[in-house]
Amino acid sequence: MQVSVIGLGSMGATLARLLLAAGHDVTVWNRSMAKASELVGAGARPAGSAAEAVAASGVTLMCVYDYAAAAAILHDAAVEAAIRGKVLVQLTTGSPQDALEAAEWATRHRAGYVEGAIQAAPSQMGQADTPLLLSGDRAAYEQVAGLLRVIAGNLVYLGPAIDAAATMDFATLSYVYGAYAGFMHGARLAEVRGVDIVRYGDIVQSIAPSFGAFFRHQAGVIASGDFRVSESPLRISVVATQRILEASADAGIDTRVPRLFASLLAQAHDAGLADSELAALIQVFRVSARPG
Ligand SMILES: NC(=O)c1ccc[n+]([C@@H]2O[C@H](COP(=O)([O-])OP(=O)(O)OC[C@H]3O[C@@H](n4cnc5c(N)ncnc54)[C@H](OP(=O)(O)O)[C@@H]3O)[C@@H](O)[C@H]2O)c1
Repeated sequence: MQVSVIGLGSMGATLARLLLAAGHDVTVWNRSMAKASELVGAGARPAGSAAEAVAASGVTLMCVYDYAAAAAILHDAAVEAAIRGKVLVQLTTGSPQDALEAAEWATRHRAGYVEGAIQAAPSQMGQADTPLLLSGDRAAYEQVAGLLRVIAGNLVYLGPAIDAAATMDFATLSYVYGAYAGFMHGARLAEVRGVDIVRYGDIVQSIAPSFGAFFRHQAGVIASGDFRVSESPLRISVVATQRILEASADAGIDTRVPRLFASLLAQAHDAGLADSELAALIQVFRVSARPG
């Protein structure tokens, strides 16, 4: 199949390499074309411009630094003429609003548009279990799904709402960064109390699958709206986070992370949620939204 790849940074070049290895007819373009030479040596066709790359194939995969970089390439009369009737798969990381604006641009120029969020590092691409979140027009998605399975075997199509993939990307990244903040606090606590940090890492790794299952359960509880205790009463976490905060203060270390968690749980307790399932903490987030 003919496919073009725009953006040959570490991720874009990996995508082009995988498509070439799978036998596709790949055209490549990058702002600095020096990055294309290795791919051209491996059989890719170099395009003279982004518009030429778009014109060369029915499908273009784009993977550049951010949406500002993508707009700098796409908002060009020659590209806008070339993209008519073609499909653009946008694999650049962006916000839900970025996705909506890009889809509006694609619709205006009569192009099919699929939004993708890559949730793996370049060395992890191309595996059967590599996840790729996707959203957008179903017909366009179905047209490119076979091609995309070459770069990520685990395609997760989230439906036609164009911002769904970016939203899910930010939701899962919120989980990851929250866990990362907790991980760092735990590392500091271990460090200051003389506990082996590598051992701490081993234990974190070993408990990850069961905590993943626990979070999956909590998501189901939130979706059901039934907050009767099914796994873990919220009051247990009120006490646990308060103890972690006290132990951290006693150890003389930064208390910002346990202070945040203890304050969220205390607020839930004060709202009468102590004897609900832990997932009832969502109520605190629902009522505490601040404009902006
Ligand atoms: N690498 C990862 O682990 C990873 C994982 C998941 C998602 N992603 C996402 O994949 C996307 C690409 O990441 P990457 O790791 O490949 O980044 P990268 O190695 O820094 O490459 C950036 C790419 O964007 C291009 N670019 C930047 N500014 C531009 C501009 N103003 N006009 C035209 N082109 C411009 C660069 O062109 P030049 O070569 O000419 O500078 C290059 O092709 C990002 O959105 C990133 O969030 C990456």
